[in-house]
Amino acid sequence: MADAVSLNAPRHVAIIMDGNGRWAAARGMPRAVGHREGTKAVRRTIEAAIEQNVEYLTLFAFSSENWARPQEEVTDLTGLLRHYLRNELNELHENGVRLLVIGERERFGPNLAHELAEAEAKTAGNTKLTLVMALSYGGRADIVEAARRAMAAGMKPEDLTEQTFAGLLATDGIPDPDLLIRTSGEERISNFLLWQTAYSELYFTDVLWPDFGAGDFAAALNEYARRERRFGARPE
Ligand code: IPE
Ligand code: IPE
Ligand code: MG
Repeated sequence: MADAVSLNAPRHVAIIMDGNGRWAAARGMPRAVGHREGTKAVRRTIEAAIEQNVEYLTLFAFSSENWARPQEEVTDLTGLLRHYLRNELNELHENGVRLLVIGERERFGPNLAHELAEAEAKTAGNTKLTLVMALSYGGRADIVEAARRAMAAGMKPEDLTEQTFAGLLATDGIPDPDLLIRTSGEERISNFLLWQTAYSELYFTDVLWPDFGAGDFAAALNEYARRERRFGARPE
């Protein structure tokens, strides 16, 4: 029997993975331990997304503003990203995951940027789940970059529409998120997908990211299934 969830399931779920530092602090451990534990939650969440037939999962892993953290933490996070990629890529590939990266990957240095491009190329033909990793991503930077592209291409003002503009963003070809989840009790966007979340349903949970699992993901999807999306229109 088709239940409400399958009738009203999100195609695209985006997550602001927050609370690693607080998770570690609560245990008297360094923040790096929280970030490492967070990668296990990433793994669980990808599995849950596949299980729930979500088509697109976007994970905010590192913001443009996160470069302002202490050098030691930035180094930890970058190292973890490299480690994650090397350890998980084959399994992602075997599970039919297509990886896409949005954000200023060059800022991670040529080696890691190259590894990310290789991972994208290797998984380009996969169709089970598209995993969008937002790395050194900022919503405002994305919009400014799109405007620059339009100008550099000599686009005429009358040719710029919401549709053509969306095609110049880093998320070109990816549908807008239906559901945006933020963990750790913070209730803000923190410069994530500003343009793309115009009509996303927002879901906040107090669960800290390293504790997030399949049950929490299912709870968010259940809540989404109960929401009525109107897109500004008035129901008849
Ligand atoms: C999220 O956890 C991970 C990143 C932003 C990279 P935080 O590091 O922001 O953890 P809190 O918010 O300090 O608990
Ligand atoms: C947002 O979390 C960025 C990521 C989860 C990657 P932050 O912890 O950086 O955001 P603020 O500083 O609490 O707004
Ligand atoms: Mg945080």
